[in-house]
Amino acid sequence: MLRVAASPRRGIVRHEVTGPTFHPQQLAREGDFTTALGVSIIGNCLDVLRQIPDDSIDLVITSPPYDRQGKYRDGERYVRQWYEDTFLKVTGEILRVLQPRGSFVLNYRSKRHGSERGTLQYELVFWLRDQGFLFCEDFIWGKPSPPPGRFNRFVKDAVEYCFQFAKTPDWQFYPDNCLTPARWDAKDRESRKRLPQNFVRVNEPSGHGRHRVNAGPDMVRPSTLLHFEPEFGPNPTSHPARFPIELPTFFTKLLTMPGQIVLDPFAGTCTTALAAERLGRRWIMAELDRHYTDVLPDRLRTGR
Ligand SMILES: C[S@@+](CC[C@H](N)C(=O)[O-])C[C@H]1O[C@@H](n2cnc3c(N)ncnc32)[C@H](O)[C@@H]1O
Repeated sequence: MLRVAASPRRGIVRHEVTGPTFHPQQLAREGDFTTALGVSIIGNCLDVLRQIPDDSIDLVITSPPYDRQGKYRDGERYVRQWYEDTFLKVTGEILRVLQPRGSFVLNYRSKRHGSERGTLQYELVFWLRDQGFLFCEDFIWGKPSPPPGRFNRFVKDAVEYCFQFAKTPDWQFYPDNCLTPARWDAKDRESRKRLPQNFVRVNEPSGHGRHRVNAGPDMVRPSTLLHFEPEFGPNPTSHPARFPIELPTFFTKLLTMPGQIVLDPFAGTCTTALAAERLGRRWIMAELDRHYTDVLPDRLRTGR
């Protein structure tokens, strides 16, 4: 288990990683792809999760097959029953393997069913709460250039959810790793900076609540609205539902420190591994279909 030690510094509680005892490579079998930081395992994620010790994973980021997404090569239709049976077993294991300060980020969006938006995305939140997760945040992934199409009485679908769940209220949180440029009106910001009561806060990269309003810093905390283009990069395995590298990169920086372990149980083309490798986090990928994960060595070599 990764242990954390809290030490107060300038009023901020800092947590240090003091000693991992579990390494992703311990899961590797013959034929699995490994790097110094991680392992990509071909198989059912439930089997993989069951081999992972309790309280050993710092972050799970995943995008499971969307409901009635029958485009994968395994022939499974991923209807509602799959979520109630299989997916909840997977999340039960995720709850067990997360370390007490870890998080689980679920990227999900129900499909439209006839003239209605599917409700599974909301039901999942309640099911996971019943399972014992804390529902921390609902980030919105907004796609500036959504895929084109004809949608009858709907407009283009340009958002997905990234639901953050945790095991305890004291989840790891490093917003200073994800500061973004403030979008202030420059004139207004300069006049605010001249006010004595604000001046002391000018250099604080808080961006939160009163600090942000009063100080107008140049760099602020990101918001829950994430702007990432959908994945337009080369798709040599014709995977039907990849997320962009920016998505796991953002959450890995926000919720982990270097050296910690990130797991993606529905890994697809292993975008989460690419982000983790770049950021110096250790990683575990599980994916049913070797065809999809086969791109990982190339992705690591080219960095995309
Ligand atoms: C939405 S995709 C993930 C895409 C990934 N985020 C990426 O960027 O490439 C979901 C993946 O889950 C895989 N999958 C479905 N059931 C699985 C299971 N029981 N264990 C492991 N992988 C599974 C599918 O083959 C599919 O590639």
